Amino acid sequence: MIAPFDVPRLPKLVFGAGLLARLPELVRGFGDKALLVTGSRSLTSSRRLDAILAGLKAASIEVHHASVSGEPAPAFVDATAAQFRGQGVSVVVAVGGGSAVDAGKAVSAMLAEDGSVVEYLEGVGKRKPSGSKVPFIAVPTTAGTGSEATKNAVLSRVGPDGFKRSLRHDRYVPDAALIDPELALTCPPDVSGACGVDAFTQLLEAYVCVRANPFTDSLALGAMALVRDHLLPACTGQDLKARSAMAYAAYASGVCLANAGLGVIHGLAGTIGGWYPIPHGVICAALATRAIAANIKALRACGDQGRPALTKYAGVGALLAGSDPNDLEVSTLKENPVKLDQEALRGILVSRIVE
Ligand SMILES: [Fe+2]
Repeated sequence: MIAPFDVPRLPKLVFGAGLLARLPELVRGFGDKALLVTGSRSLTSSRRLDAILAGLKAASIEVHHASVSGEPAPAFVDATAAQFRGQGVSVVVAVGGGSAVDAGKAVSAMLAEDGSVVEYLEGVGKRKPSGSKVPFIAVPTTAGTGSEATKNAVLSRVGPDGFKRSLRHDRYVPDAALIDPELALTCPPDVSGACGVDAFTQLLEAYVCVRANPFTDSLALGAMALVRDHLLPACTGQDLKARSAMAYAAYASGVCLANAGLGVIHGLAGTIGGWYPIPHGVICAALATRAIAANIKALRACGDQGRPALTKYAGVGALLAGSDPNDLEVSTLKENPVKLDQEALRGILVSRIVE
């Protein structure tokens, strides 16, 4: 029997190459005054920003623009929210990597709250977010964090007293995610690799999490197979098919983590990312194989209780070795999970990126 589960919220999804052209129409659905949040460099240098602004203006949308550099810091969110709070912004649109999407998501929330965003961060502040916000559209230009589908925005302050913590509420799931894989074609190989490994670890951790359910399992398995086949081609060339597969996998990873949770890789990555300015996906990659080994060792010590997750790890190993994800429940996986989970470790895609 399937155990009870719920999926509180998913964004309206618009997915496909060339569909950035539908952004003005999407924005218009929320009103005629948009706050555009972008990263500081790549979008401008690719000249896409000019095209986006022109498209919005042609649709008679008043646009204000804020750019975030590097990791999204509370100071940026506070300053931007203070500047535009009470100004009648109909919708916040974030176009960029995970940092820009998280920054835009936090700004959309803080336009409807008072005080500093730090007061609402998990593990840092003491206030609970109300869930009120200005509508938010996410347009990712990298395939990694899955923030276009999640209910949290990760904000950071890097340094000895740094942190990397979430602003979280079910209602912070973006109202719409516009995913155009063409936007990732100019993403550099190192960024593409780090983002792709982030998506993979999110899929894996959600898949073996105790809160996983059949909905997240099916998404995670399908997306891990896409990562297996398309991560490396996506990093090395102008391969729209590979970019499209990775864009979908990243989105699926966001849905999975929002509804099933994550594990020790992300638990540690958040803390380390607060101390050191290392890209999140690189931290995940560095932790992955040892964290998986530790998890498997602990699961073996749990006896029968650990067997369902061990079988899942074995299934991922088989998947990465080339099996059809639909064949994962074959009897061999159940008969010999120990052998196959060792294969999982050997074959795990992340090690190919790290080493
Ligand atoms: Fe992540």
